[in-house]
Amino acid sequence: MTHPAVVAEVTTRLAAAGIGPARAEARWLVQHVVAEGSAASPQPGWTDRLEALVRRRQAHEPLQLLLGSWPFRGVELLLEPGVFLPRPETEVVAGLAVEYAAAAGTGAVVAEPCTGSGAIAASLLAEVPGVTVHATDIDPRAVDLARRNLGRVDGANRFAVHHGDLLDPLPHGLRGHLDLLVANPPYLPAADADHLDAEVAGHDPAAALFGGEVGHEVVDRLLVLAMTWLRPAGVVVLELDTRLAAAALTTAAGVGFATAELVRDLAGRQRALVARVPATAEAVGCTRDAGTVHHRAGAGS
Ligand SMILES: C[S@@+](CC[C@H](N)C(=O)[O-])C[C@H]1O[C@@H](n2cnc3c(N)ncnc32)[C@H](O)[C@@H]1O
Repeated sequence: MTHPAVVAEVTTRLAAAGIGPARAEARWLVQHVVAEGSAASPQPGWTDRLEALVRRRQAHEPLQLLLGSWPFRGVELLLEPGVFLPRPETEVVAGLAVEYAAAAGTGAVVAEPCTGSGAIAASLLAEVPGVTVHATDIDPRAVDLARRNLGRVDGANRFAVHHGDLLDPLPHGLRGHLDLLVANPPYLPAADADHLDAEVAGHDPAAALFGGEVGHEVVDRLLVLAMTWLRPAGVVVLELDTRLAAAALTTAAGVGFATAELVRDLAGRQRALVARVPATAEAVGCTRDAGTVHHRAGAGS
């Protein structure tokens, strides 16, 4: 059978299994197996290996896990079972992080709690010259994978991946000196567990998805932590549940940020919060005492 005929047959089978972009995924799978040999002569047994992958995809195992790696911005990330698979909307959050870290100048120091595969940290290392990134994750499988992904991007060891809760494992000397804190934390409400797609329910760990009963419990903790770990005029960038975005703005104002705004993802949903600490320590006190937080609700476009 020719490759186009194989792609057509796999497309039909994936579509019958309810896989949305069946043709595109069929092409990815066929190319993946054929690429193990040469274009002219795939390695012997390639049809058996393709058959195994098609069956796993028909059972709704995510395509990224079948391929073992996936592009995120400019970086090819290794991906493994048990670690959250990066989503396209997080590329917007990583882009904001790149922008603010670059604006901080050479030698910017960034914390990325909840790093998972290391997607956001890898983008920072690849795109911001001279940046140093401290990533953390509570799951040792994520810590291990992130270390490998960041090592592939950055030969100069400008990163550390710590195991532990949010910012707890960071060197204490960084407190009050971070230029940027960026995170895509778990933010779904617990009740969403009943409505997840098979790909998500079967493969993303619960600790990566659910923030608590409300959903934004970890987001709220990070906003409080950011106020003490960021330097004056430092910036926090957090991915959010779009349903809870307005509440996050209110929390940011209450915690004492000087400015806070929402940024939309490529689908037009309010997906990220960007908030800035007051420029001077004195201003932090003034802002809290006088309740004069500059609050630009709905500023995203
Ligand atoms: C939504 S995933 C995001 C992963 C990655 N940043 C990305 O965007 O693809 C959330 C990650 O946070 C981690 N996590 C959950 N609670 C945590 C905590 N208290 N401290 C550190 N990491 C945590 C999970 O293990 C998971 O890897």
